[in-house]
Amino acid sequence: MKNKNIVWHKHHLTKEQRASIKFQRPCILWFSGLSGSGKSTIANRVEELLYQKKKHTYLLDGDNIRSGLNSDLGFNKDDRVENIRRIGEVAKLFIDAGIIVITAFISPYQKERDTIRNSVEDGEFIEIFVDTPLEICESRDPKGLYKKVRRGEINNFTGIDSEYEPPINPEIVLKTEKMTIDESALKIIEYLKDKGYINE
Ligand code: ADX
Repeated sequence: MKNKNIVWHKHHLTKEQRASIKFQRPCILWFSGLSGSGKSTIANRVEELLYQKKKHTYLLDGDNIRSGLNSDLGFNKDDRVENIRRIGEVAKLFIDAGIIVITAFISPYQKERDTIRNSVEDGEFIEIFVDTPLEICESRDPKGLYKKVRRGEINNFTGIDSEYEPPINPEIVLKTEKMTIDESALKIIEYLKDKGYINE
């Protein structure tokens, strides 16, 4: 913290009170995986399914957040670390509001993911590894970015010339080359039911 004269003001309402009127246990569904792995697609589907169940959600997505809140950040290591730090802080505010927050960022570094896990309560951080091999991401190339990388028009690209550290102990692994989008999304919904985040 830069300023020493900041005093945390305790809210009168608690996270539990905010969550209780929404009939859900708030958490962060933290997707991690390469560009083109399917994070955003599956995250969107999960949000739709939760909406149908009248659950309160919000989706934070890489390209959208990078157009606004994080528009000052690029793709070198320091900027990626800062990108994820800010997303973590925003996600924590959503948890405090009683919301199930879904985040879809490459989030390439284990340390930054662990920092967020360790800064929330047990069970509030659900790490989801969208485990799609680079060759498949590249063959999908939904934004045409891999083609640009191969033409030398982008550098520091995750999986090519910038590192990606796969989650060491994720709660959920999705092998998208073997699963449909719905199968992946339903696996997450089942997890939320099994662990009591949602009740039906
Ligand atoms: S992160 O590494 O900082 O977590 P983030 O998820 O926010 O990345 O943004 C990744 C998205 O930005 C990719 O899906 C892709 O569309 C775009 N992008 C642009 N340049 C790069 C790059 N050098 N490496 C990875 N993704 C990039």
